[in-house]
Amino acid sequence: MERLYARREKKYTPSGNHVNPERTTKARQWVTGLLIVTLVASLTSQTTAKEHAHMDKQKDKTGILLVTFGTSNAQARKAFDNIDRMAEKRFQDTEIRWAYTSHMIRKMLAKEGKNINSPVTALAKMHDDGFTHVAVQSLHVIAGEEYNQLKDTVQAFRRGPFGFKQLTLGKPLLSSYEDVREVSKAMLAQVPEQRSEDEAVIFMGHGTHHPAGLSYVAVSSVLNDMDNNAFLGSVEGHPTLDRVLNECKSAGVEQAWLMPFMSVAGDHARNDMAGDSEDSWKSVLEKNGIACESILKGMGEYDDVVKVWLDHLEEAFSEL
Ligand code: CO
Repeated sequence: MERLYARREKKYTPSGNHVNPERTTKARQWVTGLLIVTLVASLTSQTTAKEHAHMDKQKDKTGILLVTFGTSNAQARKAFDNIDRMAEKRFQDTEIRWAYTSHMIRKMLAKEGKNINSPVTALAKMHDDGFTHVAVQSLHVIAGEEYNQLKDTVQAFRRGPFGFKQLTLGKPLLSSYEDVREVSKAMLAQVPEQRSEDEAVIFMGHGTHHPAGLSYVAVSSVLNDMDNNAFLGSVEGHPTLDRVLNECKSAGVEQAWLMPFMSVAGDHARNDMAGDSEDSWKSVLEKNGIACESILKGMGEYDDVVKVWLDHLEEAFSEL
């Protein structure tokens, strides 16, 4: 290394120790110039950083995103209107937006000119619109497949170019034993007064093969503890309608009130539960000697149930 340096010295300063005064002045000017540039640059970058911090503070914007499967039935949308109204009342001054997870329903509504976002699009738009802190609330009943997909979406928006400063997710309706009790009580309170004790109340849950479907078995047990003639069945999982039918038969039930245990009284409630087709719950029960009366109201239409969803939202909101 030393030898290399020496050789270079020889090559570039053939005059040996002789120093050119003009070159030294030029070098000094150059160094001073560099120092000034560096100083100015560092001062500027400090100011910019401060301005950024200041602007960021001013720009903080909090929002709420309510996420549901969705419904194409205009009557059923009453449930969402009620949830929206109650959320607005409880979270004043906070903008509330909606997203539907069902691609099929979004497509159907788009044909009617109603454009509703998916959770991914809704979050990207909120990011674009300057929201920095967002609480997402699942309006699902259980922590099943759709809730877990939403959880993945939220997770993906926590980092990267679309990352929010804070993004939280509220739990679905039935997320603890306390929730199951509170919701069961609220639903039983909605049974019409003219129902007599020997008449059954049959709730129709959605049901699923996802492990979280076990929540419906828990609700069925809690409802039955609270009211001997209250039963819950599901369309796509357990407990089944057969089970409910057997329970009704052994209790000697002759009349039943049918109520959806879903956020909206949509297609399942109107057709699979209360419809006139041969395999609707109403038809099956009536064929078995049980007269039926259907109540076409979704859980989102009952304030005491919506309260539980909003309690979960408040928890997510407090984490922002
Ligand atoms: Co379904």
